[in-house]
Amino acid sequence: MRYEPAPVYNAPARLFHWLTALLLLIQFVLAWTMPDVHRDTQPVGLIAWHLGIGVVIVLLVFVRLLWRSIHAVPPEPGSLPPALRALARYTHWLLYLLLIAVPLMGWANASSRDWPITLFAAIPMPPLSPAGSPIGHALGDWHRVFAWVLLALVGLHVGAALFHHFVLRDETLARMLPAHRRQAASER
Ligand code: HEM
Ligand code: HEM
Repeated sequence: MRYEPAPVYNAPARLFHWLTALLLLIQFVLAWTMPDVHRDTQPVGLIAWHLGIGVVIVLLVFVRLLWRSIHAVPPEPGSLPPALRALARYTHWLLYLLLIAVPLMGWANASSRDWPITLFAAIPMPPLSPAGSPIGHALGDWHRVFAWVLLALVGLHVGAALFHHFVLRDETLARMLPAHRRQAASER
């Protein structure tokens, strides 16, 4: 029996994926445990962590998309019906869209509160809305709403990945894990 390398996402793509997942998990825990944000709230403690990690997430997603645009994505497992394949693709693009839109809305809200935004608590980042901006204020509500939409979509995505692995028993999940070998296609 011959074994050949299975098509998997390249190492940086896998690192970007799992790092985003980890940071998003931390980000939701912070969002739910940090104090409620009111007019006089100061961006310290858990709130400062929420802002800091959120900025890292959005920058990470930009770098990830740049990397994806110049590196090949492995072919999809052939066994999937076209409609399901399209659904998976739309879900992935919607995830990317929300991974950018949700933090930017939070950032605009933070700027409207005149909170300084920094990368790694050191590098100053530009404000995304003027201090006192009504739009920036309203985007705080949208930030919370779309964070829930993002969470629901992640739930669907994780459910689908587990369904592929344990029910369909195809290679979808393995494509996001360290490279492995599989039986040669010509012998299957
Ligand atoms: C993907 C990244 C992010 C997620 C999933 C996320 C999630 C959330 C959630 C769920 C809340 C609501 C907390 C509650 O009401 O109990 C929240 C609030 C907030 N987040 Fe984020 N956030 C992210 C990124 C950011 C970023 C980058 C910033 C700013 C730089 C930010 C600033 C805020 C602010 C100011 C609030 C309070 C909004 C208000 O109540 O008006 N967030 N976030
Ligand atoms: C928690 C936050 C997560 C986010 C935001 C997320 C986001 C994404 C995105 C955007 C893609 C598309 C990759 C591309 O082709 O560019 C993807 C692929 C994938 N994700 Fe996630 N993911 C998360 C968690 C998970 C978890 C927990 C699992 C496993 C249980 C998982 C399994 C996969 C698999 C198997 C693929 C490849 C799907 C394919 O190529 O058809 N993801 N993920």
